[in-house]
Amino acid sequence: MTTQQREISLARGLKGVYLDTTESSDVQGDIGKLIYRGYNIHDLAEQSTFEETIYLLLYGKLPTRAQLNQFGATLHQSGKVPGPVIDIIRSVQKSHPMDVLRTAVSALSAFDPETEDNSPEATLRKGIRLTAQTPTIVCAHDRIRHGLKPVEPNPSLNFAANFLYMLKGEAPSEADTKLMDTDFILHADHGSNASAFGARVAASTLADLHCAVVAGVATLKGPWHGGAAEKVMEMALEIGEESKALSYIEDRLKKGDRVMGFGHRVYTAEDPRARHLRDRAKALGDRMGQPKWWRILSAVEERMRPYARRGICVNVDFWSGSIYYLLGIPEDLFISIFAIGRVPGWAVQVLEQQKNNILIRPLLKYVGPMDVPYVPIDQRS
Ligand code: CMC
Repeated sequence: MTTQQREISLARGLKGVYLDTTESSDVQGDIGKLIYRGYNIHDLAEQSTFEETIYLLLYGKLPTRAQLNQFGATLHQSGKVPGPVIDIIRSVQKSHPMDVLRTAVSALSAFDPETEDNSPEATLRKGIRLTAQTPTIVCAHDRIRHGLKPVEPNPSLNFAANFLYMLKGEAPSEADTKLMDTDFILHADHGSNASAFGARVAASTLADLHCAVVAGVATLKGPWHGGAAEKVMEMALEIGEESKALSYIEDRLKKGDRVMGFGHRVYTAEDPRARHLRDRAKALGDRMGQPKWWRILSAVEERMRPYARRGICVNVDFWSGSIYYLLGIPEDLFISIFAIGRVPGWAVQVLEQQKNNILIRPLLKYVGPMDVPYVPIDQRS
């Protein structure tokens, strides 16, 4: 029997397909549970730091204090972005920040001393460098496009504080730093999400980590993945006040449009990351004297509650946008923040792919015409 005659069952979007094994993170969608290396996301969100979480993902265990100090110092030393890459950022400054990030990560490969070394040791070192360089790129771009000078990383600040410092040029408060830190922890890895899959596909061809991270950044950009937080805040701004939320959502659903920040391929219960940002978004709104965004989003959440019965629940991106907005971060940077948090996840999944590599190459069922006679160009009508 030929492939054309055989009955083929499709797994469109690879829904429900296990691609490989992983020891990095596990999304247990039916019970709304997420673990990194065995640790519950709730414990990490409440008790860990982003530096510690990166270490956990990359090395497979929590660091001792000495290891964490050493790792923090390495991250600091790795955050510089070469001048020619800053020049490239300057020349493409008008593009969307994710396009600038994708271009800059690609350009970094020309300056990294180990770009084409796919050994696990070099890939780990590159993963640490890219984790540290990504916020430098995002912040340098934002400052350049606003006519400001990029700010050098400050070695006395932790990762999250340094990000806010390089973005705004002033050291952030402890509360804002903690918020950003938690947000990065929550975004660090997430099973076979679309961008990690994109990164794995690139790595499976034996392409290097820079290629894989470019694929990750490119895949994250869409509003069905990393772009949802930006769309949620757009929606909140359009709604404008709590009393209009209900009719806005009714209209949207009547038109068959999706409500951004809801639904997930794997979670049929609430995304466990969302609750940490929900409470923090409320506290931040109260602290800033702007409780209205949380109220608008809560009214949207309330209207969407019946959808939970169909497994369409609130996801991490629903609350993160309002946090970034209240921190004074421009909406078009929201996806880049997700990317900063996710680089360690891409790196660890590329390391796993390389360790036990197999080319990722699924099939497509051909449904087009068959045996069409070739007509020479002059005889075509
Ligand atoms: N609002 C309204 N209806 C929805 C939504 C939503 N946000 N999400 C899914 N549905 C409906 C969809 O219209 C479809 O209905 P029907 O069966 O009547 O055609 C049904 O649910 C199944 O949708 P699907 O597209 O087959 O499901 P999926 O698993 O492929 O979708 C998703 C996952 C994330 C693409 C989708 O839920 C969505 O578009 N959500 C909005 C975008 C969003 O918030 N993305 C961020 C995800 S969390 C961050 C991350 O990890 O990437």
